[in-house]
Amino acid sequence: MTKYHIPVLQEKTIDFLQLRDNGIYVDVTLGGGGHTKAILETNRKVKVIALDQDEDAIEETIELKKRNTGRLTILHDNFKNLRTRLALERIKKIDGILFDLGVSSHQFDTAERGFSYNKDSFLDMRMDQDKALTAHKIVNTFNFDQLTSIFFDYGEERESKRIANAIVKARTKKEIKTTKDLADIIENAVYSKYKIKAKSRIFQAIRICVNSELEILKSALKDAIQVLKPKGRIVVISYHSLEDKIVKHLFKYEEKECTCPPGLLKCVCGKVSTIRILTKKPITPGGSEIRKNKRARSAKLRAAQKREDL
Ligand SMILES: C[S@@+](CC[C@H](N)C(=O)[O-])C[C@H]1O[C@@H](n2cnc3c(N)ncnc32)[C@H](O)[C@@H]1O
Repeated sequence: MTKYHIPVLQEKTIDFLQLRDNGIYVDVTLGGGGHTKAILETNRKVKVIALDQDEDAIEETIELKKRNTGRLTILHDNFKNLRTRLALERIKKIDGILFDLGVSSHQFDTAERGFSYNKDSFLDMRMDQDKALTAHKIVNTFNFDQLTSIFFDYGEERESKRIANAIVKARTKKEIKTTKDLADIIENAVYSKYKIKAKSRIFQAIRICVNSELEILKSALKDAIQVLKPKGRIVVISYHSLEDKIVKHLFKYEEKECTCPPGLLKCVCGKVSTIRILTKKPITPGGSEIRKNKRARSAKLRAAQKREDL
């Protein structure tokens, strides 16, 4: 049996979380439970609240939950609802939080989930199987301009127009049903040395759109910082530059004391610094981790600590 997911940068994550006795830690991207398990095993006096929007992740971690009764709460939800979910659990403040963004290996490797252009299946790409928007709907109903902006904004694809045009043309002849249908259209639309990159960028772009990945990230990170106790820690692992840019800019903004234009005698913005950044440069996996787990190769970890006077 293949493993559900190999946790990335696990040791560094645990180091940065600096687990405190009797602390409450939140893992908003439970996946196969690798990071959650490491947190629970590293400090036997902490509790973990873990969230995932994918029903498969909840099922996969049933045993972990049973082994940690009273210490692990698992919730099926999107992390955009973090604050509401914590309030329902009667938790006001937490000691640390982890975001391990993107898709799990399980989601990627399970053909029927439709995330991979290497496996032929229905064009799905939903992390939350209860949601209505699928990749199939985007590819078959969004207009040329919408497709172009998705490919450009979420895939940083130079040939966005050419590929959007090929999709719009192809679907007038026949519905684009499967990952293979879409992969073939992309392949035929771009030059040969560029085919694999184009497929992976377009699939990434559609996945980001289906799951509203970037729209919710900034506000979820803000909420997470808000609910941290003084000196509580936030750790974020991202896997592509668009996510990492959001994390980097938000951390920088939150660390800043004042955002008034230079030259003013007195601060009028009232902005206070909420965190101290712990990683001036992102932490990346070493060669041996990448050799063991090639999915780790694009990972970037950023961590910050909540100010102690907040
Ligand atoms: C990279 S995997 C996490 C792997 C996990 N750290 C482990 O050790 O197994 C990302 C997981 O986060 C979930 N996820 C992504 N975005 C989410 C969101 N907005 N809300 C809740 N879960 C999300 C995905 O369904 C996936 O299971």
